[in-house]
Amino acid sequence: MDGRERGSCVVVVGQVGRDLVLRADGLPEAGGSAGVGERWEGLGGKGANQAVGLAQLGVPVHLVGVVGEDDAGAAVLRQAGRDGIGTASVARRGRTALLVDLVDAPGSRRLLEDVPPEGLVTVADLERARPAFADADTVSLQLQQPPATLLAAARRARQHGARVVADGAPDPAVRDELLSLVDVLRADATEAELLADRPVGSVRDARALGRRLLGAGPALVALAVPGAGDLLVWPDGEHLLPLADVPVTDPTGAGDAFVAGLVAALRRRADPVSAGRLAAAAAGATVQRLGGRPDLSGSAAVASAAAGS
Ligand SMILES: Nc1ncnc2c1ncn2[C@@H]1O[C@H](COP(=O)(O)OP(=O)(O)OP(=O)(O)O)[C@@H](O)[C@H]1O
Ligand SMILES: [Mg+2]
Repeated sequence: MDGRERGSCVVVVGQVGRDLVLRADGLPEAGGSAGVGERWEGLGGKGANQAVGLAQLGVPVHLVGVVGEDDAGAAVLRQAGRDGIGTASVARRGRTALLVDLVDAPGSRRLLEDVPPEGLVTVADLERARPAFADADTVSLQLQQPPATLLAAARRARQHGARVVADGAPDPAVRDELLSLVDVLRADATEAELLADRPVGSVRDARALGRRLLGAGPALVALAVPGAGDLLVWPDGEHLLPLADVPVTDPTGAGDAFVAGLVAALRRRADPVSAGRLAAAAAGATVQRLGGRPDLSGSAAVASAAAGS
């Protein structure tokens, strides 16, 4: 979309951790206990899930994140390697973040997150990731990381001519400067509300917010609209992607899969509508699965959207 495809990979700056995903038929009251119907443990965290989705879509991807110096850190790094993700820029210190996803009924989840402060990406971590940045055509930022890190990462990406994609709501302290460095912004419904400083409950509200955000830097904005879908807004157009008509098991990670689809298509120079279709198909495939780890290789809807993007 901007004629700047100089690099050859995507860098994802975000959370890496160990996921524990449990499905139970109802959670116990205090003092009670319940059996677990399904259990999955392994590589997780928002950054890793997005990177897994990108790798499944055939995109060379490097993660910039942090895992612990513990056994869990070694195990998730091995798994990322098996997933085809570059991990040379993942720092190791402290203990590995643990993310517990409890699903007690289809579509109903509770998250428990142990993210130690040392698990956040620092400006010094970006310095060590210099080779990955130098090779990137796209840098994807998860806005839950520290504001100083995000600003430094966006500036570095720009210096290298890479597209900057951001998922979330920027901290108000750096909002204007960060948005001025972002090409593509995606926000879920809660994040859209933070960006707008008021509820964003309709397509009309999302359109107004999207237009305002276009004036702040991004050339493409994707906003989740509750119950309706995702609205894409760009300077000379807009498109509503309706929610996929699929059974929802667990929405965890669907936003990360959405961004993976968007990035994979945009770096192939897809137009916004085709890119949005791949993003929505990736999100629709992920809500049907337990846990945040996507399986985009196994989805016919994703394959069909990818062929059209
Ligand atoms: N009920 C649903 N049916 C179909 N698709 C859905 C449904 N709910 C969400 N999605 C898709 O999943 C995407 C992500 O959902 P959500 O808004 O929960 O993102 P998120 O909070 O950023 O997720 P995460 O950060 O856990 O990855 C939506 O933008 C939409 O495309
Ligand atoms: Mg999200």
